[in-house]
Amino acid sequence: MKGIILAGGHGTRLNPLTLAVSKQLLPVYNKPMIYYPLSTLMLSGIKDILIISTERDLPAFKNLLGDGSDLGCNFSYIVQKEANGLAQAFVLGEDFIGDDKVALILGDNIFYSNRLPKLLRANKEFEGGLIFAYQVSDPTSYGVVEFDKNNNVVSIEEKPEKPKSNFAIPGLYYFDNNVCKYAKSVAKSKRGEYEITSLINKYLQINKLTVCVLDAGTAWLDTGTFDTLSRAGQFVEVIEKRQGVKIGCVEEIAYKMDYINKNQFEKISKKYQSSGYGKYLLDVLVNNERV
Ligand code: TTP
Repeated sequence: MKGIILAGGHGTRLNPLTLAVSKQLLPVYNKPMIYYPLSTLMLSGIKDILIISTERDLPAFKNLLGDGSDLGCNFSYIVQKEANGLAQAFVLGEDFIGDDKVALILGDNIFYSNRLPKLLRANKEFEGGLIFAYQVSDPTSYGVVEFDKNNNVVSIEEKPEKPKSNFAIPGLYYFDNNVCKYAKSVAKSKRGEYEITSLINKYLQINKLTVCVLDAGTAWLDTGTFDTLSRAGQFVEVIEKRQGVKIGCVEEIAYKMDYINKNQFEKISKKYQSSGYGKYLLDVLVNNERV
């Protein structure tokens, strides 16, 4: 399976922070934001990853992540000239996806749960489309899933003023290979975007949509406003300091998932020797537990 991280957009809700820097490169406590969605894809066993961003910001992502070989991955890059909507990822990414299935994750979404890696790996056998639903107090700024009494999905609506449930759709979507074909026929919505909900609705119409409800033991955070960005940083700091483990630590994940060997891991760990991050990596090397 291939993976795509959508890390473009305008980030207007974070101005002036994002006037010169990509939102997805801003720090969430001790790592650039994109490490978190990248770690989610890596934990689901994905190594071939396409990073989509703006013309201005793509070089910075290349500087940060390179070709992925340090992490035992293959990273590709492509520019999205205008922020025309999430569904465009599958048009821009068509050649990259080839004949495979694909997972799309938004570059400003953070997932954290002990059970998530197992759940993500187990879900790779899906057919059609697979999305998640997560209960939130205010779903009006998300896609919203409506369920009937038997937990069947009845409707999917994008940013509804009057949501039919409190189940929002987090920014992590799995699709079969038809998604490229379907994405090309998506029309722009009233707000002028190629919406991911149009694609999800297509899978719902043909009865090939699975919605997996994430329980309260999973944290799903988005980081698009000053408050949510700050809270995400606090969340990561609190968990990391309390538990002594890191969230979204892509180097550790690459090592524990066997993407890289001990020598490669040691080399990266030494690169960060002068920060607490490097010290943590060296400790992992000594303790040497695999996921
Ligand atoms: P949003 O948060 O909806 O949009 P934005 O990042 O442009 O922010 P703002 O509303 O503050 O202007 O985007 C969600 C994620 O998807 C984010 O990581 C940016 C990314 N994105 C793209 O890469 N291309 C797009 O065309 C859109 C709409 C979003």
